[in-house]
Amino acid sequence: MPTDPARDAAASQISAALAGGLVPVVRTFFDPATFTATHVVHDPATRQAAIIDSVLDYDPASGRTRHDSAASVLAYVRAEGLEVAWQLETHAHADHLSAAPWLQGQVGGALAIGADIVHVQDVFGKIFNAGTEFARDGSQFDRLFRDGERFRLGSIDAIALHVPGHTPADMAFVIGDAAFIGDTLFMPDYGTARTDFPGGDAGMLYRSIRRLLSLPGETRLFLCHDYGAPGRDHFVWETTVAAERQGNIHVHDGVTQDDFVAMRTARDATLDLPRLIMPSVQVNMRGGHLPDPESNGTRYIKIPLDTL
Ligand SMILES: [Fe+2]
Repeated sequence: MPTDPARDAAASQISAALAGGLVPVVRTFFDPATFTATHVVHDPATRQAAIIDSVLDYDPASGRTRHDSAASVLAYVRAEGLEVAWQLETHAHADHLSAAPWLQGQVGGALAIGADIVHVQDVFGKIFNAGTEFARDGSQFDRLFRDGERFRLGSIDAIALHVPGHTPADMAFVIGDAAFIGDTLFMPDYGTARTDFPGGDAGMLYRSIRRLLSLPGETRLFLCHDYGAPGRDHFVWETTVAAERQGNIHVHDGVTQDDFVAMRTARDATLDLPRLIMPSVQVNMRGGHLPDPESNGTRYIKIPLDTL
């Protein structure tokens, strides 16, 4: 295996957190409309918190946005007396709109995403013909994380790991012993994230997943989505490295990259695009900010015809 200092640093951090009992508290809010898990993670010693992958409710028929999901998160943050340090996005989501700017307006926190968001902005800026007023330099975010960059959540050490494949910019945020892995692995009985969006790559996703699965077996993994699975009618968003290595139906130990790429490519060819991909990508490439209003004061979502 090639040397991987960022992975090694994450593994050391996880082992130290477990040995020292310095582990964060995680509370998850599940949005059944988009099957998204929003995680609120906090350091019990300082009550500093991060909100990860929040959801802005959106009804595509009426074009109405609502803040019901985000308001539940907000109520919890306030009831627990948490100080929000971070609004983290694991990637530019294609299936839900981010509520990070709205939550940031309520409780603060630096808005952060992976540095390769600039490539995603470039691709989707062209697809949506966004014009020069749409900056493609990541400046809509307060912080752009690179692979191996460290940060803190109160007294707890954290590190960002670049895990591309689903999109070019996906990051996993490892906070203490808890890894928030976005769209890479899903629950063992459901498998893995799709790789057929612009910039996606099944071989790259395989390598990112093997990197995550080389972390200590007891590492807690928190997923971005769950869709249920045959024989399971309730939603689950937490598992471990050991459970994924043993039982993930797509990438358990022993599955080769070639096997995975063949399976993933065949499966992706059968999938419809997410219901909310057009509004989601247009808003999330702007860091969750809605497009600017036009001269009549109304904001519009564009739909490129015969493009995706
Ligand atoms: Fe995604």
